[in-house]
Amino acid sequence: MSNTLLTTTDLSISYGAVKAVRGSNLEVKEGEVVALLGPNGAGKSSTLRAIVGLIKSQGAVNFAGQDITGAPTERIVSLGLSLVPEGRRLFPHLTVRENLMLGAPRKAKSDDLFDDLLNRLPILRERLQQVSGTLSGGEQQQVAIARALMSRPKLLLIDEPSLGLAPTIVDAVYQLLSDLRKTGLAMVIVEQEVMRVLKFADRAYAMSTGEIALEGLAADLRTSDEVKKVYLGGAE
Ligand SMILES: Nc1ncnc2c1ncn2[C@@H]1O[C@H](COP(=O)(O)OP(=O)(O)OP(=O)(O)O)[C@@H](O)[C@H]1O
Ligand SMILES: [Mg+2]
Repeated sequence: MSNTLLTTTDLSISYGAVKAVRGSNLEVKEGEVVALLGPNGAGKSSTLRAIVGLIKSQGAVNFAGQDITGAPTERIVSLGLSLVPEGRRLFPHLTVRENLMLGAPRKAKSDDLFDDLLNRLPILRERLQQVSGTLSGGEQQQVAIARALMSRPKLLLIDEPSLGLAPTIVDAVYQLLSDLRKTGLAMVIVEQEVMRVLKFADRAYAMSTGEIALEGLAADLRTSDEVKKVYLGGAE
């Protein structure tokens, strides 16, 4: 029924002599929510950055029926793929409005979308003129997600949405993601809070030192002994 939206085929990423990702094959279907798990340094952020063309990779990336391997990030974003980077990466001295506008494609008429977004995130409307660096962590995460939505993505890649946030704020961020999912938006979520994301996602991949070690339905991984051992019992 549902069509494939994104595939990576034999995706590999190196930083000089360091092989960060080795031959990963990922698939995301339209409207699907996929979790990408793994300990620190497993290659999760590198994978997301390579998919949107921010770093070089080997192998192939296909999105919405097009080969986007090696394509410039601007083109990839215009096709409907958008990244919420690890650590939010807002411009702290710019206002919320200015940060959001940076997510809109050049020359695009995005006023309607802007209004739409602010209706969904009323807290941002109150703070449009505030400089982003003075927002709380949860508000900054909302701005980072809203900025990524300004390009009207079909697939949102989100790198550690709950990083550094108190549990109740994480609830609010996931509530936002849940609302967005209802609009048909597909997502790949990199998350250290494994059980939380496995309750939210449809499917999951777990990376370990650059390779995909496990994949399956999120509901199955939630009860998997291997996942428990790696994420709940061990040093993590
Ligand atoms: N710019 C870089 N230059 C050199 N090595 C890098 C660079 N970025 C990442 N690496 C290395 O690549 C590997 C994968 O890093 P990556 O950031 O993708 O991991 P991650 O799974 O996102 O980890 P974390 O959970 O800590 O965010 C690590 O060994 C890291 O040290
Ligand atoms: Mg990372």
